[in-house]
Amino acid sequence: MYSATYMLRPAQPSDAADIEALHEMAFGPGRFARTAFRLREGVAPDRDLSLVAQFGDRVGGSVTMTRIRIGHEPALVLGPLAVHPDFARKGAGRALVRASLNAARIAGHRLVLLVGDEPYYGPLGFRRVDYAKVMLPGPVDPRRVLLAELQPGAFDAAEGMARNWHW
Ligand SMILES: CC(C)(COP(=O)(O)OP(=O)(O)OC[C@H]1O[C@@H](n2cnc3c(N)ncnc32)[C@H](O)[C@@H]1OP(=O)(O)O)[C@@H](O)C(=O)NCCC(=O)NCCS
Repeated sequence: MYSATYMLRPAQPSDAADIEALHEMAFGPGRFARTAFRLREGVAPDRDLSLVAQFGDRVGGSVTMTRIRIGHEPALVLGPLAVHPDFARKGAGRALVRASLNAARIAGHRLVLLVGDEPYYGPLGFRRVDYAKVMLPGPVDPRRVLLAELQPGAFDAAEGMARNWHW
């Protein structure tokens, strides 16, 4: 029987293998070819905003936040978000997203982009963005390009190509 309760905490370097295993389980090897992966490639996740859900002695979920740019504006990309099936539907996924968004807001970030399902992320503060306004550097279903505004006016100011922080 697995622990039903969890606590959220910042991801530590020692969590790397557990987090990688969650990503492999949730997205498989195809994850390396995804446009969202390319946006993050080679950039260290933001240590204060990337969290894990600890269920007893197991890391059951994780969310990663990484710096990007949209046009010339600094922003964050949220993802991957993954929760192990053993711990599904206990609210950990939504709690990870809410906590990382709150931490980002407090740290002064303005915008968070992700590629994901609007029915899941919409109630968490994300909305679809006009693909002519914010583009991604690779193939993506435009209906899955979502933005959360952390500061008033940030959504309207978002314009241009989403880019890897190093590009
Ligand atoms: C999506 C995921 C993170 C949800 O984790 P979780 O901890 O089970 O989520 P929560 O407990 O916070 O929320 C569960 C609810 O979200 C719903 N949900 C899960 N995935 C959904 C999706 N893609 N679209 C809409 N709703 C979804 C569930 O049906 C459930 O609904 P309920 O509350 O009415 O029962 C997890 O299933 C997962 O890792 N999936 C594989 C990877 C993935 O798709 N990641 C997100 C895209 S980047």
